[in-house]
Amino acid sequence: MRVSVFGIGYVGAVSGGCLASLGHDVLGVDVAPEKVAMLAAGRSPIVEAEIAELIADAVAGGRLRATTDTAQAVAETDVSMIAVGTPSAADGSTSMLAVEAVVGDIGAAIARKQGAHSVVMRSTVPPGTAEERVIPLLERASGRRLGQGLHYYSNPEFLREGTAVRDFHAPPFTLLGVQDGDDAALLRALYAPIDAPVHVVPYRIAESVKFLSNAYHALKLAFANEAGAILSEYGVDAPAAFKLFCEDRTLNISPAYLRPGFAFGGSCLPKDVRSFLSLARHKSVAAPMLGQILPSNSAIVERAFEAVASHGRQPVSLIGLAFKQGTDDLRESPFVTLAERLIGRGYDLRIFDRFVNVAALLGANRAYIDREIPHLERLMVDSPGAALRHGRIVVVGHAGAADRQALLAGLDGHVVIDLANVEALRTAGGITYRGICW
Ligand SMILES: NC(=O)c1ccc[n+]([C@@H]2O[C@H](COP(=O)([O-])OP(=O)(O)OC[C@H]3O[C@@H](n4cnc5c(N)ncnc54)[C@H](O)[C@@H]3O)[C@@H](O)[C@H]2O)c1
Repeated sequence: MRVSVFGIGYVGAVSGGCLASLGHDVLGVDVAPEKVAMLAAGRSPIVEAEIAELIADAVAGGRLRATTDTAQAVAETDVSMIAVGTPSAADGSTSMLAVEAVVGDIGAAIARKQGAHSVVMRSTVPPGTAEERVIPLLERASGRRLGQGLHYYSNPEFLREGTAVRDFHAPPFTLLGVQDGDDAALLRALYAPIDAPVHVVPYRIAESVKFLSNAYHALKLAFANEAGAILSEYGVDAPAAFKLFCEDRTLNISPAYLRPGFAFGGSCLPKDVRSFLSLARHKSVAAPMLGQILPSNSAIVERAFEAVASHGRQPVSLIGLAFKQGTDDLRESPFVTLAERLIGRGYDLRIFDRFVNVAALLGANRAYIDREIPHLERLMVDSPGAALRHGRIVVVGHAGAADRQALLAGLDGHVVIDLANVEALRTAGGITYRGICW
């Protein structure tokens, strides 16, 4: 395949060199003439393991060339891959200056070309970039409509500097963001020799997975560093503790707890986060990230309250009160906090939770509820049907399968605020649906 790679920095040089090594015919393009001259001479413009040999070989074999001429690059290739920088702007947003400049140039060159042309975004750009910025700009500049001699793909790069060539050949997956109905056959062919799962998804998903990945990697590092600093003050060999921590592939290093949804609660998580923070305070260890966990959790409760409030002052029913489904443990339940917040703001609230029998609550559980919602008994109803008869707004915290069925059967014109990502609710007709994070 004939591919032009715009931007021959870290990503472009690696992508270009590796694509050439897969047998493609690659033309590197950059605004920096010195980088173009280096590449054209078979020398790598970046320092990176294996890349010098790879580039030297590809240039010697005639599979890798370089130019500063956009029009020539578009005319001589079928696919243009964009790998220009997207640094932080002064306000922290992604600077799209280089991307927009190069997209405009490529579009103008496509306007002067006969055959179809595909543009592939390799740079890291925010979700929505394809549909809101790049495609409109490409269509304007090229005078073509997407799908009609003009194709656009989002194809984020997951390589790490230092092991970039190895990562190129063994990515976690190949992610292809496409226009609805496009099967991405062209890009599948481009990456055919790479042995990795291919996911063809809408543009916004492809764009966001890259953002999610980097934010999560940063979060993991901050967690490990803060936790390590605290532990070391208590004589703990933190790397040894972390080694064991990482051995738990069920809850720690796993998809567990990585589903967007509602706040956590219960008798362990909030308590132990607070304890860990108090350990940090006692030894004056800065732990700003850990310190934001509980405020972050409260922000999600507030988001649910705001979702209710945005529908006006109507009777509300809350389905699920215990901190999770199937228990009557109300201690630090975020649903109790939400109920408390609604009552405090004067909402006419009823609550259904099959597992919570207020009269039977004992000990710390009883004391907690007497302190937080003293008249809870009066608010409880005994069936999903009764909850639906009361609330025009129904907040679904959690519900077992039978109660979900009853809810689905009884919903009729309600506003549903879904905190549990119930698939059947998302697709139900005749209701006003709102998800907490979707
Ligand atoms: N560096 C990484 O490890 C890495 C990994 C994955 C994704 N990314 C993303 O890939 C993108 C590129 O990152 P990088 O580290 O390779 O950047 P870089 O700064 O090393 O390279 C960008 C190149 O683009 C060139 N350029 C700028 N405007 C241009 C134009 N109009 N036409 C042609 N070339 C132009 C620059 O001269 C430069 O050589 C960024 O969006 C980055 O976030 C980087």
